[in-house]
Amino acid sequence: MAGLRILSITSEIFPLVKTGGLADVAGALPLALAGLDCEMVSLVPGYPAVMEALSGRRRVHDFADLFGGPARLWRAKAGPLELYVLDGAHLYQRKGNPYLGPDGLDWPDNAQRFAALGFVGAAIGRGLDPKFLPDVVHAHDWQAGLAPVYLHYGAPPRPKTVITVHNLAFQGRFDAALLASLRLPPEAFTMEGVEYFGGIGFLKGALAHSDAITTVSPTYAVEILGSEAGMGLDGLLRQRAGALHGILNGLDGEAWNPETDVHLAARYKRAVMARARAHNKLALQRRLGLAADPHALLLGVVSRLSEQKGLDLLLEAMADFADSPVQLALLGSGDPQIQQGFARLAAGAPQRYACSFSYDEPLAHMIQGGSDAFLVPSRFEPCGLTQLAALRYGAIPVVAHVGGLADTVIDANAAALQAGVATGVAFSPVTRDALSAALRRTLALYRQPKIWRKLQANGMVADFSWEQPARQYAALYRHLVAA
Ligand code: ADP
Ligand code: GLC
Repeated sequence: MAGLRILSITSEIFPLVKTGGLADVAGALPLALAGLDCEMVSLVPGYPAVMEALSGRRRVHDFADLFGGPARLWRAKAGPLELYVLDGAHLYQRKGNPYLGPDGLDWPDNAQRFAALGFVGAAIGRGLDPKFLPDVVHAHDWQAGLAPVYLHYGAPPRPKTVITVHNLAFQGRFDAALLASLRLPPEAFTMEGVEYFGGIGFLKGALAHSDAITTVSPTYAVEILGSEAGMGLDGLLRQRAGALHGILNGLDGEAWNPETDVHLAARYKRAVMARARAHNKLALQRRLGLAADPHALLLGVVSRLSEQKGLDLLLEAMADFADSPVQLALLGSGDPQIQQGFARLAAGAPQRYACSFSYDEPLAHMIQGGSDAFLVPSRFEPCGLTQLAALRYGAIPVVAHVGGLADTVIDANAAALQAGVATGVAFSPVTRDALSAALRRTLALYRQPKIWRKLQANGMVADFSWEQPARQYAALYRHLVAA
């Protein structure tokens, strides 16, 4: 089959705009697909940070009134990324977080802001730019969710459509009264369409009307068919189970490479890992004001602080280690209450616990390269990327046995140790006590340097690159186009 053209629609893309793993995935997938005869161009909102990064712009189309103001569609480049950029000042010219205002609440016009993204994505899908007619429109999360919906209700012919669910907790639910103003036809407002608990569901509509649904790990693809992880959408997902695929995320091997990482005090290959990591540990302890103790088990966390991530459980479990040689280096931002809890912990023993409440790319790398163990105690985790970085960097992941964490970390139980294949510590159920037990187990493993080094080595050689996932996406696109 000839080369395929795919339009990816995403509300964030690394390195331009990022609040989480979606940006990493949206930034890496197009580059990984290039070698597989798939040309992927990404449609993104023209946030200030995006507009500033563009080069070689070509004007594609002017919209006189796009949900409340004029807008222009550009085709442009940003580094290696091929983009369509939706430049509508009334929608996106706002500094800071792409979804939240300065008050920490959702922007009140998020329905219009992301309906516009889907609307223009659908228009490109139907040939708005004669120079790029997509075979497949691939929408990410609720923010792009209306693209397959507009395509479904619009006139044929239309390209094939894929929705990827990065996190079912974010669904894009809005007032039913907006239907007409979002340019959705009245017939879309049914149980088979965008109607969702009496309102409009962007993700719900996408799950109903896309040719294929993917999510970011095989285990999460199964979990979301149940009522707990399904979060209200499990019934629809069960109906569409035949179209649902779990494709594990990859890790961007250039952004996360301990051999070349400019943020590390010492860069390293596997062979010299022990010395370099000791150096990085000391640098991290100094940077954060922790005691410069080479023997303490230094635990790292890099995370959004939200209910999903289970860090409230960590906060409670740390009480069990008050007399143990354990240190904590936490980098995160989000929920003010969780933040306060960690701030209090750090204030009580600043040489043992260091917490930085910011978004800090260099510090995230230092934690991966300098912590002994890396914690991800999530209540649910569609895929998770930080444990993949930890594996690559030789920090032992200690993870909840859920979602993508279960698919990527091999617990150091007796059988796995015997077979020499373990890469970390996994615990279940996701409770304070199980986490505490996992940390005790981690401490015990840390005291056995030979076993610890084997865990590290196993993790570092595990292949979580984009090569395999990109092949799976390419195969899915080809399958859809051939159907
Ligand atoms: P999620 O998308 O649910 O937040 P992932 O593990 O998929 O979780 O992706 C999180 C990404 O964001 C990783 O690349 C991680 O390094 C990064 N990250 C999270 N919090 C911070 C922070 N405070 N500073 C820097 N990077 C962060
Ligand atoms: C979401 C999920 C995370 C996943 C990321 C990228 O933010 O919470 O588990 O890794 O998307 O797919």
